[in-house]
Amino acid sequence: MNNAKLLLLIFTILAPIGLAPVTDAARILGFFSTGTKSHLLIHCSIAEQLARAGHEVTVIGITENVYPNATYKHIRLQLSDVSEKYAKTLFDVVNGRMSFLKTVTVRMRQYMSRADEIMRHPWMREFLRNSRAGDYDLLLFGFLMNEYQIGLAAHFRCPIVMTWVIQPALQIHRFVGNPQQLSYVPSFVSPFKQPMNFMQRVKNFLVTQFEQNMLVPYLDYNTQKLYDYNFPSDRYPPLDEVRKNVSLIFTNHHFSQGPIRPNVPNLIEIGGIQIKEKPDPLPTDIAKVLDESKEGVIYFSLGSNIKGSHLNEEKIKIMFNVISKLPYKVLWKWSPTELPGESKNIIFRDWLPQDDILAHPNVKLFITHGGMGSVVESQYHGVPMVGIPLFGDQPSNMVNVERSGYGLAVDYLTLSEESLNNAIQDVLNNPKYKEAVQTFSRLYRDRPMTPRETVVYWVDYVLRHKGAKHMQSPAVHMNRWQLLSLDVIGFLLAIVLTISVVIVKVCKLICCRGRKNKLPKVEKAKKN
Ligand SMILES: *[C@@H]1O[C@H](CO)[C@@H](O)[C@H](O)[C@H]1NC(C)=O
Ligand SMILES: *[C@@H]1O[C@H](CO)[C@@H](O)[C@H](O)[C@H]1NC(C)=O
Repeated sequence: MNNAKLLLLIFTILAPIGLAPVTDAARILGFFSTGTKSHLLIHCSIAEQLARAGHEVTVIGITENVYPNATYKHIRLQLSDVSEKYAKTLFDVVNGRMSFLKTVTVRMRQYMSRADEIMRHPWMREFLRNSRAGDYDLLLFGFLMNEYQIGLAAHFRCPIVMTWVIQPALQIHRFVGNPQQLSYVPSFVSPFKQPMNFMQRVKNFLVTQFEQNMLVPYLDYNTQKLYDYNFPSDRYPPLDEVRKNVSLIFTNHHFSQGPIRPNVPNLIEIGGIQIKEKPDPLPTDIAKVLDESKEGVIYFSLGSNIKGSHLNEEKIKIMFNVISKLPYKVLWKWSPTELPGESKNIIFRDWLPQDDILAHPNVKLFITHGGMGSVVESQYHGVPMVGIPLFGDQPSNMVNVERSGYGLAVDYLTLSEESLNNAIQDVLNNPKYKEAVQTFSRLYRDRPMTPRETVVYWVDYVLRHKGAKHMQSPAVHMNRWQLLSLDVIGFLLAIVLTISVVIVKVCKLICCRGRKNKLPKVEKAKKN
């Protein structure tokens, strides 16, 4: 065999191997219009798994990349600075100066106006002008109050995979035709324990009716307006048609967290996707503290949104007074410019690798704001919690934590040294909290595939089967009347009614004829 032939042989053997990842690789557009870091950690984690699996992933976002060393390509759109406005809202919300309803509408408007600003951004306009159908094979869409932006999938004529950061809720059920089952599935806003008692079912029903008949129509109205503006009908299909191109939704939830509910096949649970399967090495100084404190370390963080300026100074002082007296080292995530005081046992850091810290066996307690991401990380690593919930879903997350026995919550508005200290002492000294959360940790991790494997498998599945429309529930193509079988009931009622009328008519006819025959007899009888 001469050299040329040998080379050719080697080439023909190797070529398919070399080419395989290239032909299988899809161009995926990740579009995450939220500025909330805890949400981005989830969305971008999905993007990262797909990029590592060999896909060409581009992420468009409005903040700096939450994973600076990511494999995906990140494009940041610089929007107007609203941090001051947001800080003011957050302060009002946290300190109880804004009613629940007002909070919801304000946050909703803020979300929508940010989403709108993205579409008006010159880079985005340029991007849409210079790209066309087929440039991307899939839209990975971070969904929250930005529904009209799925028009991007209409632009590229590609299937949509959505990512949703909590348990399945009303807004996502209808994309995939997921059943609601109000009688036994508590809604996200009324987080009752299953099974619900009668009054809880009444509340669950009413809350959902409010959401469905007030909130959703309001959102829909705005969504339609924004869609028509950004994706005009002379060039784009109607929104209703684009909705039907949602192939799959990833929900950052796992049934072991409850509630138990039925899900359609294209609603896939990836709860805990943001948690690393193997922790990264800790910064050396933090590692030293954790390794050397055999008696245990307390980790304290109020999340990525909350800064000292959002809280009341008096409350910060209370926290500091209690924590500085504890006979444990405390890692406290807090801005160094806002230190409430100094204490030998406290190590303040602007930023701490939370997931990697919670994975350390010497962490004894997590004092948290009760954000979903934090609670789940604590559950995953089996660390008991003391919660100081501040706003949004945090109070209800902590209600769940308390109910399940993974820790205790204290009320921020009435926070005192006594209430905080009692909760901390109880969780530190009573082993039942640790046992409960570690039992849950084993349940939560016990799955056929890890969340990261699950993400890659299902996105590849959608790509392999050209949108995987065969998985879609027929409910997606039906209207509300049809879904409730009201048309069928109406039809059957109409038949019953028709038959009844006919029977009555016939009876009358027979009776009347009978009476006519009888009548003379009666008259005769009367005469007699
Ligand atoms: C990213 O990579 C740089 C250089 O390799 C490293 O110094 C940095 O710590 C990494 N950042 C993160 C968040 O992993
Ligand atoms: C839905 O996606 C398919 C490709 O999977 C595409 O051909 C079609 O145009 C899309 N429809 C809409 C309304 O975006």
